[in-house]
Amino acid sequence: MRNFISVHDVNDINALVQKALSYKANPFQDRNLGADKRIGLLFLNPSLRTRLSTQVAARNLGMEAIVFNVDKEGWALEFEEGAIMSGNTVEHVKDAAPILGSYFDILCIRTFPSLKNRDDDYSELYIKQFIQYCGVPVISLESATLHPLQSLTDIITITENRKAIQHKPKVVLTWAPHVKPLPQCVANSFSQWINAWGETDFVITHPEDYELSEAFTKGATITHSQDEALKNADFVYVKNWSTFKDYGKIYENDPAWMLTDEKLKQTNNAKVMHCLPVRRNVELSDEILDGSNSAVTQQASNRVWAAQAVISEILRSL
Ligand code: CP
Repeated sequence: MRNFISVHDVNDINALVQKALSYKANPFQDRNLGADKRIGLLFLNPSLRTRLSTQVAARNLGMEAIVFNVDKEGWALEFEEGAIMSGNTVEHVKDAAPILGSYFDILCIRTFPSLKNRDDDYSELYIKQFIQYCGVPVISLESATLHPLQSLTDIITITENRKAIQHKPKVVLTWAPHVKPLPQCVANSFSQWINAWGETDFVITHPEDYELSEAFTKGATITHSQDEALKNADFVYVKNWSTFKDYGKIYENDPAWMLTDEKLKQTNNAKVMHCLPVRRNVELSDEILDGSNSAVTQQASNRVWAAQAVISEILRSL
């Protein structure tokens, strides 16, 4: 594996999941694999889980992990080719990325979308520019359209919980209300990975006008009826996203879309997933988050093993 940007960088999803689960069982089995190697974690946006789990994972492999909060501590970066930099940006990615590549063996980058211009965001300009100019492998810590470490974690968590299920599991991705327009990254990425995995009956449910890009959802059943989607579900993944077509908007925030214990009765005692952070009693109810069906803590703790499996694959390719 050279870079980890999307599911297309993975040859065998199940093999990567098993590697992650092997690290979960024995975290220090490759404690010297990354000896004398350094990983840089660049954050252009906030994070709790991604930042800490990737640091822990790198440390388990013997690497030194250095975090740089570019948004707060770095120079404002320019990404436009041929830009006349007379505005607020101070340093072009063409100049910064090769320097960062000389300091680190692997670079990890979090760069959220602007939600202002769909074509710009969906071109993945920022992460592609880092890949082009840094000269070392790049791991996405969430880009403008995808969150691959989260999606790998999600499949690890489904794999762990599907052991008790005899049939092909039904996985439902449901839109939930939120107070702010959020990126489509987690929903896009989950759809892309679940479709590529191909081991589930995958249903996406959302209000009208909240369609995601077909580039990620093709293969899933899509319905505007949450009740219909929830019937006999084994896993319910809850996530808000803003509109894709009329880009980055909130059209409706109907609280009836928030998952409750009453709605969960329609499912096959489903495990409820969410990438976190979550706005309680807006996106997901207290009763679900504090109840026995919630898998969110297991899911977030699995972020370490997903990151460790990916870093280990890249280290072996250096
Ligand atoms: N799920 C996730 O990426 O969490 P953070 O934004 O806290 O890293």
